[in-house]
Amino acid sequence: MNCTHPMTGKGADGMSHKTRNEVIHSFQVNFFAMSLLNAFPWDSLDREIMTTTTSDIIMEILQMTCLHPICLKNPPSLKYRRRFLTELIKRHEMLAAEPLDVLYEALGEVMCAQEEDVCYKTYLLPTGDAVSLAENVAVISQGTTGLVTWEAALYLSEWALENTHLFKNKTVLELGSGIGLTGIVVCRSSSLTKYIFSDCHQTVLQRLKENISNCLTNCDSNSASVCVEELDWENVSDEQLQRIQADTIIAADVVYDPDIIAGLVRLLSRLLNGKVHEEHPDVYIASTVRNPQTYDCFKKELEMAGLRHVVMKDSVAHVFPYNRASSIEMIKIYV
Ligand SMILES: C[S@@+](CC[C@H](N)C(=O)[O-])C[C@H]1O[C@@H](n2cnc3c(N)ncnc32)[C@H](O)[C@@H]1O
Repeated sequence: MNCTHPMTGKGADGMSHKTRNEVIHSFQVNFFAMSLLNAFPWDSLDREIMTTTTSDIIMEILQMTCLHPICLKNPPSLKYRRRFLTELIKRHEMLAAEPLDVLYEALGEVMCAQEEDVCYKTYLLPTGDAVSLAENVAVISQGTTGLVTWEAALYLSEWALENTHLFKNKTVLELGSGIGLTGIVVCRSSSLTKYIFSDCHQTVLQRLKENISNCLTNCDSNSASVCVEELDWENVSDEQLQRIQADTIIAADVVYDPDIIAGLVRLLSRLLNGKVHEEHPDVYIASTVRNPQTYDCFKKELEMAGLRHVVMKDSVAHVFPYNRASSIEMIKIYV
């Protein structure tokens, strides 16, 4: 029996309780994005388990995660699935019900398989559509931070989902695209004219192209023109920028290293000072503020280059699972 109050959603203990479907959905969303295991609603699962004598909910969670077609095609890392299944088995054993063979079979399969450097993270959009990206298991590899999706990209994607009007009929340039989540979400959700993904790192550009072709071909219902350019902030020519003629420029997590700030600000200054673009583009940058000194240095460099900024305080609907305690700031830069 579910003791959740139908109006308040709170249980007899006064805490907010998820419904059974919400619990299952939350497991699915977190599993495919490879969230930390402590981000899963284990307490809610425990409560569900206590109120029933069957293994149904565990079975449903298994179907929506490890046995789901998305997982069969684009699986999270083996290590992650091992840890997830081990925890799920632990919770199931609390039921003291008959062992669920299918759980042990799923664990057996991931125990035998060979670990790989690349795995898939899948981000579920509000429409239910999935964006599955090939990402490196290691956060930094091959000398770049660009082979994984960072939290600022998740925030910028959520912001873009709420502000599709800002991209309508626009040519959008993304700087430091990494493996592409933000651009893919913008292309899937907005009626753009053109989206230009860019980065400077060869392996990142290669992975970016693969992810775009997996996620946008035949899915991009808005049929914007999409391209990937090698664009190094330090070496980009006026000709390349003039050819691009972006109306809107966006970037996520590009302010993380004091050594790259000057080059980024010089590029923003060229883009905004009216010499390479006929119109001043709108520039939005989302950053995780890990080191306040590095971030302050970025803002000071902007000021010294004659660029002003305003902090965007819009609250956005939570679509993707990530640590909301992270300090993420989004600014609009203008002259
Ligand atoms: C922390 S990652 C962020 C990737 C992606 N935007 C995200 O948030 O998931 C920084 C990205 O900036 C790119 N980058 C760093 N310096 C660059 C430069 N000088 N020119 C172009 N891209 C650069 C890196 O290759 C990397 O993909």
